[in-house]
Amino acid sequence: MQQVLIFAPTGDAHAGAIAWALEASGVEALWTPSTRLGAQARGSLMADADGIRAHSNACDLSRIGAVWHRAPELPGAAATMPEDREFAARQWQGFQSNALALEQSFVDALWVNRPAAAEAAENKWVQLRAAHAVGLRFPEAIASNDAAEVRALLRRCGRLVFKQFHTYMWQSRSSGELRSSDVVLLDAQSELPEAAIAVCPGIYQRYIDKAYDVRVSVIGDRLFPVRLLRRGGGAYVDWRPHIRDEDLLAEPIELPVAVEARLRALMARLDLVLGCIDLVVDHAGEMYFLEVNQQGQFLFVEELLPQLPLLRAMTSMLASGRRDYALDAVADVRFATYVRSERYRHLLAAPRAANPALVYES
Ligand SMILES: Nc1ncnc2c1ncn2[C@@H]1O[C@H](COP(=O)(O)OP(=O)(O)O)[C@@H](O)[C@H]1O
Ligand SMILES: [Mg+2]
Repeated sequence: MQQVLIFAPTGDAHAGAIAWALEASGVEALWTPSTRLGAQARGSLMADADGIRAHSNACDLSRIGAVWHRAPELPGAAATMPEDREFAARQWQGFQSNALALEQSFVDALWVNRPAAAEAAENKWVQLRAAHAVGLRFPEAIASNDAAEVRALLRRCGRLVFKQFHTYMWQSRSSGELRSSDVVLLDAQSELPEAAIAVCPGIYQRYIDKAYDVRVSVIGDRLFPVRLLRRGGGAYVDWRPHIRDEDLLAEPIELPVAVEARLRALMARLDLVLGCIDLVVDHAGEMYFLEVNQQGQFLFVEELLPQLPLLRAMTSMLASGRRDYALDAVADVRFATYVRSERYRHLLAAPRAANPALVYES
């Protein structure tokens, strides 16, 4: 039987859903947070006259048809003396980064996505360079800590969005409230203090006066484009905090043929098999590329629009180990069924590692 190897943290709901769906379809899911597969596991990377290969006593690597490189965690140290933990943890991290970088020589399977491609595609500027090369339009942008440059862009554009390289979360010590950095709209009235901007670079981009947002979940050769807007009319500045609002309207759409071809070209150029693409559409119908999240969330799309078989698509791709998979390569697995399952309840109840992105504010 084929197996699928999943690198994702224990509490990851996407990994949980896919592992469940694979097993419901008779495919074994080997789900592990890192390459340290447990206290009893022994693994080796070999280099000799025959070349480079890997071996593990915990699984038969030759039976793995796909590797879902969702979000490998750094392996922690094994049970050693406290003084040795840091040393051992660093060796494990070296072992893991060497193994993952080998890709096909580590596991000869479909990688979703290839670690080197994934790492490059985490870079928003590499994405924009690729978008430019394939002829996708995008709103002009600068990443800068130079207030004069930001002001000049603001004068040219009228309105800008300010965004961050990494979303940042913090929690109020007094109220317990969770806060996160988000997209901010800037206009001629906005203060752009030179000293504050100099302290920390940010991303500033022409704000597109949108008719709606588009999210395209690309799963191998299949694209699932959906538009997101307010039922009451108009678009959100940023749709993400509104995903569970009554007012949010999500609808499947067809992409213009030329845009679809360019998105496929973008995925090929970045060498990505999986990607969640954000686009915006202005009132004239012009589409602009914002970004691609190579391991973005996609199951919320099926939650909003149960007729779109995203869970089944991803499961079929991993089970068949090919990007040009047949949708019926696996059972008719639905995200809604997973959410009602005992497996999902277990996942929610499982202890979670502290979120390292969370800092505390007094
Ligand atoms: N230039 C822009 N014009 C209009 N809306 C934007 C623009 N940039 C971002 N947004 C909104 O903010 C959301 C988040 O921005 P995005 O570029 O996808 O960055 P990230 O998701 O990494 O924070 C987008 O999906 C969109 O709704
Ligand atoms: Mg986004």
